[in-house]
Amino acid sequence: MKDQPILVIGSTGKTGSRIAASLKLKGFAVREGSRSAAIPFDWEQPDTWGPALDGVSSAYVSYFPDLAFPGAAEKIEALIRVAKASGVRKLVLLSGRGEAHAEACEEIVRHSGLAFTLVRAAWFAQNFSEGYLQGPVLDGVVALPAGDIREPIADVDDIAEVAVAALTDARHDGELYEITGPRLLSFEEAAAEISRHAGIPVRYQPITLEQFHDGMAEIAGPLVADVFTEICRETLDGHNAYLTDGVQRALGREPTDFSEFCRRAAASGAWKQAA
Ligand SMILES: NC(=O)c1ccc[n+]([C@@H]2O[C@H](COP(=O)([O-])OP(=O)(O)OC[C@H]3O[C@@H](n4cnc5c(N)ncnc54)[C@H](OP(=O)(O)O)[C@@H]3O)[C@@H](O)[C@H]2O)c1
Repeated sequence: MKDQPILVIGSTGKTGSRIAASLKLKGFAVREGSRSAAIPFDWEQPDTWGPALDGVSSAYVSYFPDLAFPGAAEKIEALIRVAKASGVRKLVLLSGRGEAHAEACEEIVRHSGLAFTLVRAAWFAQNFSEGYLQGPVLDGVVALPAGDIREPIADVDDIAEVAVAALTDARHDGELYEITGPRLLSFEEAAAEISRHAGIPVRYQPITLEQFHDGMAEIAGPLVADVFTEICRETLDGHNAYLTDGVQRALGREPTDFSEFCRRAAASGAWKQAA
């Protein structure tokens, strides 16, 4: 059973890289799901999906760029058809908390006829250390259209551990795990904690959705800016400001605190200025 590979879609990303590494440590065969893998997987090239899914027992599905992008639901439906034809037993879907498009994709997976686990994650702590906010942290200003809302920021190590459990243990079949950290944090508090651990000045700058859109459009173009601005409008309005027990239910332990994330990220050198 351990010899039949598990496909990890997004195996070079924040969640997928941890999941692939952990599965390998536990002795499971892993098929990397990346555009540069030996058997490439590309969401934009459906003819890559069959070879990537061929012979795998289960698959971790992280969608890129986000389940809110046009066409995502159709691609998840099409991936399920290929997975079923390939004899895949189970899918573990990474979803986003409080996002209507993501929840629509969860329902598609729930009714796929395949075994499934849904991992619905809060805002990632690692956005600050490995994601698009690493540069702004190093520059000292994290600008987000989040006002003074509080978010139960989740540690990607916890999300990965839940996904690995779901991929390797049928007792998680049919579960929806909503993953949050153990406390609510404003982005001002998060920036202050990062600053303390990183030993550099970091502050939070609230911006409007329009300012966010303009900045994003400059970097990534108008479509990407439109979709990410809508995601911010939907998720950074405070309606996610409560804790859930997904980590406790899946793993039987408390979720990792943001201060522990900061300690580890600082120790890893994520916030060291290039010489
Ligand atoms: N960030 C958050 O706070 C948050 C919260 C909840 C949910 N999420 C969800 O997390 C997901 C992203 O997961 P992540 O953060 O672990 O990944 P990530 O760090 O953003 O990495 C992106 C991954 O997607 C792959 N990729 C990029 N373009 C691709 C394509 N055309 N076809 C196939 N793969 C492609 C990349 O692989 P290659 O470049 O090697 O191909 C890489 O492995 C999104 O669906 C997002 O909605 C994020």
